Amino acid sequence: MCGIVGYVGFRPAPEFLIDGLRRLEYRGYDSAGIAVQHCDEIGIRKRAGRVEELAKLVEANPVEGSVGIGHTRWATHGETTDINSHPHVGGNGEVVIVHNGVIENYVKLREQLQTLGYVFRTTTDSEIIAHMICHYWLEQIKLGEDPESHETCLKAIQLSVARFKGTYGVVAIFRDIPDVIFAARMGSPLVIGIGKIRNEHFIASDASPFVGYTNEVVYINDHEIAVITADRMDLHHQESGKTTPSIHTLDQVSSDIDLGDFEHYMLKEIFEQPEAIENCLRGRIDEESATARFGGLNLTPRELRQIDRIIFTACGTSWHAGLVGEYLFEEFARIPTEVEYASELRYRNPPMSEDTMVFAITQSGETADTLAAMRECKRKGHKSMAICNVVGSTIAREADGGIYLHAGPEIGVASTKAFTSQVTALTLLALYFGRIRDLSYPAGKRIIKMLRAMPELIQQTLACNDHVRDVAERYFGFNNYLYMGRLYNFPVALEGALKLKEISYIHAEGYPAAEMKHGPIALVDEQTPSVFVVPHGGIYPKVMSNLEEVKARRGPVIAIACEGDHRISDLADEVIFVPDVEEFLQPLVTSIPLQLLSYHVAVLRGCNVDRPRNLAKSVTVE
Ligand code: F6R
Repeated sequence: MCGIVGYVGFRPAPEFLIDGLRRLEYRGYDSAGIAVQHCDEIGIRKRAGRVEELAKLVEANPVEGSVGIGHTRWATHGETTDINSHPHVGGNGEVVIVHNGVIENYVKLREQLQTLGYVFRTTTDSEIIAHMICHYWLEQIKLGEDPESHETCLKAIQLSVARFKGTYGVVAIFRDIPDVIFAARMGSPLVIGIGKIRNEHFIASDASPFVGYTNEVVYINDHEIAVITADRMDLHHQESGKTTPSIHTLDQVSSDIDLGDFEHYMLKEIFEQPEAIENCLRGRIDEESATARFGGLNLTPRELRQIDRIIFTACGTSWHAGLVGEYLFEEFARIPTEVEYASELRYRNPPMSEDTMVFAITQSGETADTLAAMRECKRKGHKSMAICNVVGSTIAREADGGIYLHAGPEIGVASTKAFTSQVTALTLLALYFGRIRDLSYPAGKRIIKMLRAMPELIQQTLACNDHVRDVAERYFGFNNYLYMGRLYNFPVALEGALKLKEISYIHAEGYPAAEMKHGPIALVDEQTPSVFVVPHGGIYPKVMSNLEEVKARRGPVIAIACEGDHRISDLADEVIFVPDVEEFLQPLVTSIPLQLLSYHVAVLRGCNVDRPRNLAKSVTVE
């Protein structure tokens, strides 16, 4: 959460910073601000609201300079006001910082700084960082250190961060020390971009602001502080001192953020799913051996055969994909599998056999809880893999191996194509693990044939869009929804409910359909639509009975059913048909009308589909 951007070089900094913040806005959009250094002064412009509000402010009241930092905020501590927006000022303006993360011991540190005479202007946790760095900088000067030396500033930052408990990505500039920016990381991502044309450096929470400038990057690791000028960049580890930066070349820094003909990123990304699934499958099917192949698992088939338990750990939509993965792994690979909320797993201590393998499932690769859960499992010595979309993200880099989704950038806050890509990757993995165990060659062949057909079948499913919009027009006024599904479609029901609540602010709950009579059926009335995911399959008649129970209580029913199902139209109020596919592939088609339904309902309710309130795309705080 929160996007950070910084620049030191020869260009006008405000333009790069504001453009960079636009690209990082998915990380938070409660407020935005920049600070630009120019001739012993730092000009700050900040404002509650979106980056466009900041852009207007800067246009009306410009700042100049070629060194600067910027921030887009997802509020954790303190309301979303102009004053609480970053950048924050330390002391009497000597230091200016932007921060991503949470300083957990900020209350105590604030009290200590207040007794030293520091005046707090905001109700954020971040402001203590600015004052603390200022305090230690002044202390160093009292001890006779050169105020303008980079070493003095570095020391002040080192002493400050040693006091912080929690997470931070901090970027700082000093009013009296021109042409240098400092960056420190603990738990919140920061990446440096190396300018190609002339001497210049960029810094940001991820590489997206570097599009068009550079694809050469250096990731700052935890416990490291970077000292960055236009022509030099040094990394200092808190314990081991100066380290050699390793430069990574990104294949492509994605510039694929145009909306094209779509009104919203979410809709664009829903429609990109055939291509995303195609990309996820590309190069990973081994027809000859009727299995999948992966370049990045970094384990031999013999080592993989020894795995006796799998844990998928994730949050939100990625956790739902993990649930589908559990069913796939147990069906095809016969390996006992569990799905753990990362936020729970990181603090739980479940018994795990020596040969338990952990998969962190994450679109962004930066989710704080998922990262912490993966680290905890790695610390205990378990092989820890990532199923991740964002190349070079922290989880992707720290995992022992893994699979990239290749879904392309997902900008809309509501995850859509990442979900179906995760399910596709998990299907390939289950096939692979199955084939090194008991899954037969013909069975592998059959799965591959069906998987190959999925991009086309998803394309066909998308044809329901107009019909789903009509349904949404009839139903967008309801304030409570139930979502029901069973087996592979139970996670789909959970995901459908999450999609609806997060972008349209309608209360929605997902359940395994048979659980309904153990409580949720009490909610059924004429004002509570139930969305039943009821495609063909072994327990179709059972789900139909659940559906009838709702109809018997006058609950409106929207059904997601297979083409050719003649019975359903007599029972449900609305039916959205999807292609008839094998049960284990159904989530790839049944989730699509649910994504579209939540999209159209949210649009009809006038909600900000791509930037729903209180949310952010990348959840880098606990
Ligand atoms: C919902 C959504 C979130 C994310 C969750 C995990 O649409 O996007 O629930 O799935 O925050 O994010 P990642 O997958 O980036 O770890």
